[in-house]
Amino acid sequence: MSQVSEKSMDAIVSLCRRRGFIFQSSEIYGGINGFWDYGPLGAALKRNLKNAWWEDVVERELPGPDGTPVSVVGLESTIIMNPKVWEASGHVGGFNDPMVDCKESKSRYRADHILCLGVKGQAEGGQIYAFLEGDDDGIAKARKKLEKYVKRDLADEELDTCAFMDLSAEERAITVGPDTKEVGTLTEPRMFNLMFETYCGAIRNEDAKAYLRPETAQGIFVNFHNVVDSTRVRVPFGIAQMGKSFRNEVTPRNFTFRSREFEQMELEFFIHPDEAQTWYDFWRNERYRWWQAIGLAGDNLILRDHDTAELAHYAKNGAGVCDVEYKFPFTAPGYGELEGVAHRSDYDLRQHAEHCGKGDKWRYFDQQSNERYFPHVIEPSAGADRGTLALICEAFTPDDSRASKVYMNFEPRVAPIKAGIFPLVKKDGMPEIGEKLYKELRRKHVVEFDVKQSIGKRYARMDEAGTPYCLTIDGDTASDQAVTVRERNTQSQERVALDKVAEFLDEKIGS
Ligand code: GAP
Repeated sequence: MSQVSEKSMDAIVSLCRRRGFIFQSSEIYGGINGFWDYGPLGAALKRNLKNAWWEDVVERELPGPDGTPVSVVGLESTIIMNPKVWEASGHVGGFNDPMVDCKESKSRYRADHILCLGVKGQAEGGQIYAFLEGDDDGIAKARKKLEKYVKRDLADEELDTCAFMDLSAEERAITVGPDTKEVGTLTEPRMFNLMFETYCGAIRNEDAKAYLRPETAQGIFVNFHNVVDSTRVRVPFGIAQMGKSFRNEVTPRNFTFRSREFEQMELEFFIHPDEAQTWYDFWRNERYRWWQAIGLAGDNLILRDHDTAELAHYAKNGAGVCDVEYKFPFTAPGYGELEGVAHRSDYDLRQHAEHCGKGDKWRYFDQQSNERYFPHVIEPSAGADRGTLALICEAFTPDDSRASKVYMNFEPRVAPIKAGIFPLVKKDGMPEIGEKLYKELRRKHVVEFDVKQSIGKRYARMDEAGTPYCLTIDGDTASDQAVTVRERNTQSQERVALDKVAEFLDEKIGS
């Protein structure tokens, strides 16, 4: 077993593969960039995260700002929709990222992810060194190259860091790319549309062109009136949907963080325009609280309000936009977005009203106030894969004192396996007692029955899987009708009566 003394991304990725949390997609053929598969433990963890979101957002009826239960209904729309949806939403025309190619190395970068280091007030004949945002050693390497070029050590005050996008054409011409030695090999940034295209039917022409959705949100907007007309919901209310989204990211990276196929958990909450601030504040705080409650409490989770320069056009005069962000090992000391909460105004409903030709007839009618209007929207939009990755990074706890050298400190609610049931040895009636207990507990909880290998090895496997409890049937169980319960984090052990184990688990895990 290798030494795992720090929470490094290499150690986390290696555990994910070894224990079946996350695999590279189509690994036997060399993989495919930006696509990931979840193994048995990972699929269970992600499913638990999504179930927690669905239960808490759709089914639980949270108390709203005035204490009245918040009304949210669910939806499942298709991944491929009429292409006009994406023209109306602005994705076909405007869902672009700036892309830069290196003519020498053939690498491709997101231009807005490239940073540059040069000497302040550099006169003619200077050079600028590019490096990638989030690359731990990037700035140190760029500094070394710069010092080699000017043939002396440089003081911090002499250095100038800026975004590649902010460089002039002259400055770009003297810039050395992140993985080259020559200047001027990076192309000018070009806009690249992130929509995945496909064709419906046998004939592959422009008329048959369709897109894989880049967000689940538009499926909700186009169904707004279907939901209002077919249910009893009235504004304020929300429509929630989770499912796959696809973006042809220029540079997928950081494990599952930026993938080309990923899953979103989105809520579009429809409100009267006058109530935007109240509902924005409510969802902003609620979503931050939720991520804390499922195990991301502590300094690694922050709520960051966007400044005006960052706001999308539809949010400029709105109640606000913020992100729930997590300090991943690859973003530290910075943070990466898990979820955005945005006041999207009535932008999307108006766009669809105009593009589908219904215009003002598509306004919502409030029977109580006799008012017709386009509701505004507060949108909490989260990533299930980023959430799962954050749970994995947060749970990963190096501990050289135990055989596994690491344990996964998952909240019991999201832990893939809730308890391991282990007969100490394969004789003296222990397996039979264990199997009976397994069958009883299995009705309510995901538990695992294992008789193979030493008890130490079985504990180690459960520590790596993040299983909160291990229940051991030993030589005394037949006579005292009790099992030893081992708690994952403290490794403390207590004796619990066989007929009280179900109650014990219900209380600790939640029934
Ligand atoms: N409807 C709004 C919307 O889609 P977004 O900020 O583009 O907003 C929402 O995406 C969430 O989806 C992000 O906070 C992130 O968790 C997840 N997400 C977006 N792009 C992703 C990608 N390429 N890989 C993994 N997750 C992604």
